[in-house]
Amino acid sequence: MSPLFLGIETSCDETAAAVVAEGRSICSNVVFSQVPMHERYGGVVPELAAREHVSRLLPVVDEALRQAGVGLSELTGIGVTFGPGLIGSLMVGVETAKGLAFGAGLPLFGIHHLRAHLFANLLESDLDPPMLCLLVSGGHTELVLWKAYGVYQRLGSTRDDAAGELLDKVARALELPYPGGPQLERLAALGDPRRFAFPRALLDEPGFDFSFSGLKTAVLRALVHGAPAADVAAACQAAVVDVLVEKTRRAVAQTGEQLVAIGGDVAANGLLRQRLEEAAQVDGFRLHFPPTALCTDNGAMVAAATFDAWQRGCSASLTLTAAADLPIESAG
Ligand code: KG4
Ligand code: ZN
Repeated sequence: MSPLFLGIETSCDETAAAVVAEGRSICSNVVFSQVPMHERYGGVVPELAAREHVSRLLPVVDEALRQAGVGLSELTGIGVTFGPGLIGSLMVGVETAKGLAFGAGLPLFGIHHLRAHLFANLLESDLDPPMLCLLVSGGHTELVLWKAYGVYQRLGSTRDDAAGELLDKVARALELPYPGGPQLERLAALGDPRRFAFPRALLDEPGFDFSFSGLKTAVLRALVHGAPAADVAAACQAAVVDVLVEKTRRAVAQTGEQLVAIGGDVAANGLLRQRLEEAAQVDGFRLHFPPTALCTDNGAMVAAATFDAWQRGCSASLTLTAAADLPIESAG
């Protein structure tokens, strides 16, 4: 029988579990989104997120096993995201996975959340590292060179806000509902991106770090001065996308890596997709976007990363603990 892993993901506001065969083939992928609960607060409330994971996780795991048509005893092992993320949320996933693994006598694997986003590119595909990865979510903006299985090099990351976080904050200032990224994209479609020349930070510096706090200040200042919302949204989105695409192109040029993969929910953004596709044509690199359902936080990407951890013999003990901060190079 092919190796079968359960992946559990609770690092932020999605309660998710999935069963994946041989790291590639999705048998089930159940995601319970807490967005409606956090919407009224305009963002994720960590304490509420953790409590919701407590009540939702076991039913989500049961449903993932049911849809896959397997029992715990048929699994090869259990993987769980143990960082980075919201500490209370992570702890719910980690402690639950430990209990399940101990009870069923299965090996346990601690999975790095950003590595899991990279593994989303392998699901239902025939891709393998090496590849250059742009990770863009509400919590992270990073360029990572995935050199080989188990070998990651972070080329750069944001020094302040993540790209999705910036879009969410600007959307909130525009009184758009949470999560703001998709709402801002809709509003931007009605505006003129050339109306404002918002800053594109760190493009005049070598290296691959990002900074979006200056852009946030400039956008909020424009709004205070009564600038039209749609034009501000369009110009803000254009500035974020410009920086993400330009840094990615430079990383391709510097590393020579010809395959570029994307992770995180900001990958759903139409302008980012279009501009990356244009860059891929001009510069001659290959581009891979996972389907949108696999860009958002999910258990399938965790299960895929678990297959790799199992192949490399990187199991965790029952002393595994959640870690809010965890550099991508540091896990097993
Ligand atoms: O990967 P994700 O679901 O969660 C983590 O942060 O890990 O990413 C959520 C982020 C939010 O900031 C949301 O506003 C953003 O992704 N997002 C988008 C779009 N869809 C979601 N940003 C821009 N355009 C979109 N279409
Ligand atoms: Zn994520």
